[in-house]
Amino acid sequence: MCEEKKVGIIGLGAYLPEKVLTNKDLEKMVDTTDEWITTRTGIKERRIAKPDEATSDMATEAAKRALKAACLKPTDIDLIIVATITPDMFFPATACLVQEKLKARTVASFDISVACSGFIYGLAIADQFIKSGAYKYALVIGAEKLSSITDWSDRSTCVLFGDGAGAAVLAPVEKGGILSVYLGANGSEGDLLKLPAGGSRIPPTKKTIDDRLHFVKMNGSELFKHAVKIMADAALEVTRPLGLKAEDINLVIPHQANIRILEAVGRRMGLSKDKIYLNIDRYGNMSAASSAVALVDAVKEGRIKKGDKILLDAFGAGLTWGAIVIEW
Ligand code: ACO
Repeated sequence: MCEEKKVGIIGLGAYLPEKVLTNKDLEKMVDTTDEWITTRTGIKERRIAKPDEATSDMATEAAKRALKAACLKPTDIDLIIVATITPDMFFPATACLVQEKLKARTVASFDISVACSGFIYGLAIADQFIKSGAYKYALVIGAEKLSSITDWSDRSTCVLFGDGAGAAVLAPVEKGGILSVYLGANGSEGDLLKLPAGGSRIPPTKKTIDDRLHFVKMNGSELFKHAVKIMADAALEVTRPLGLKAEDINLVIPHQANIRILEAVGRRMGLSKDKIYLNIDRYGNMSAASSAVALVDAVKEGRIKKGDKILLDAFGAGLTWGAIVIEW
């Protein structure tokens, strides 16, 4: 019998805009304090893209860095997936814009819209295409300009989000790679986090702008409860087929939504704090870019060694969720 192909990450890259927006800066914009934001969320600062810098620009820069790390040229890539809820525009897909900016070949290129779970969904899709033998090299990018859909007068949301991009190159590998994937969604809770207007249900009008319907609307406390359960359950589901227990995982790289959510997930999983990677203090919540950038930073900081088993675990608007175990 043929052995199933193994698929792994052979290059990673991230791009974070230069501009840093601190909690102190936010104190001057809305009725909030550094102390409230730090204790309630774990965030100290976040990055904000330039006005003329769009999601595809950040995605392309992260992709170039990932390709360099993989020692590949853009023309080697067979598939481009961009996970984003802040595309440059409705269409064409941001992935097509990235393909053009990279001067890649005219390969399959598309976006996926599953919010914060997007990078994991993207890895899962690329895994299937490579495993089936359809493609050899895939580029998966999580990129967001959340500052463009943030209501900077709403203190309950504007303190949470940031901009950035992370990218991974996937390819067949001899050993390890992606061991298990678990994805899910629950559309019945979609109202908890959404951008109400601008689509076919509520097209843009002067009224939708006046009513501030083109910004993120969120029920934070309800989401909080769902997030803890969803992420802990997803971690169990993705490790179960491998016969792994929490202690067998060397590092969990969770979606960086809120430090209290991640601590609660850690407690449910019975994990010590040092096994949960955090960079939320530096970047806030970057939706689809969060897990990607966290993975890049964890590798850069030497937190992942060859042979380690790592778990990426995310939830997002939809609601959606995704978890993946990778042997490094
Ligand atoms: N500064 C000061 N006070 C604030 C702020 C702020 N920035 N924001 C809210 N408050 C106030 C509220 O008005 C409220 O005041 P009140 O008691 O007088 O009414 C009080 O703080 C408590 O508000 P809560 O919403 O109950 O605060 P909570 O502890 O739940 O924290 C938070 C809010 C941080 C949003 C939390 O609920 C959370 O993180 N939820 C999950 C959000 C999330 O993960 N979203 C993204 C997931 S998906 C994706 O990333 C796309």
